[in-house]
Amino acid sequence: MKNVSKLILTFVFGTMAFSFQAKAEDFPADIKPLMTKYTCFACHKVDARLVGPAYKDVAKKKYSVDKIVALIAKPQPSNWPGYPPMAPMNVPKEDAVKLAKYINSLK
Ligand code: HEC
Repeated sequence: MKNVSKLILTFVFGTMAFSFQAKAEDFPADIKPLMTKYTCFACHKVDARLVGPAYKDVAKKKYSVDKIVALIAKPQPSNWPGYPPMAPMNVPKEDAVKLAKYINSLK
């Protein structure tokens, strides 16, 4: 009996550890704190639609870094028909550039 519960515990914690890892992998370690701080992650995922488009789909638009920085501060909902409008996000330029470069690095 003892062995069985040990087995179950190992399984449960193993699964938990695995799902945490999968989540952390979504954004690289230097980008994740920014996505969290400015709440981007609440609406955007790397490769799936959430409230907003997947960052990979944004990358397909081939914007310049400056253009993405401008769009974060002043979104243009007409670029994304079928989505609700994104609220303008108040992100300091330095961090916005990091986010923009990361988005453009996605394939
Ligand atoms: C409340 C939800 C929400 C949050 C928070 C949010 N977004 Fe968005 N985002 C959207 C939606 C919806 C769209 C598509 C409609 C639009 O562009 O207005 C979008 C579009 C975009 C685009 C594409 C703009 C374009 O015109 O092609 C970029 C880039 C982007 N978001 C980056 C970010 C970043 C970076 C953050 C965090 C600083 C962020 N978003 C936070 C919902 C959100």
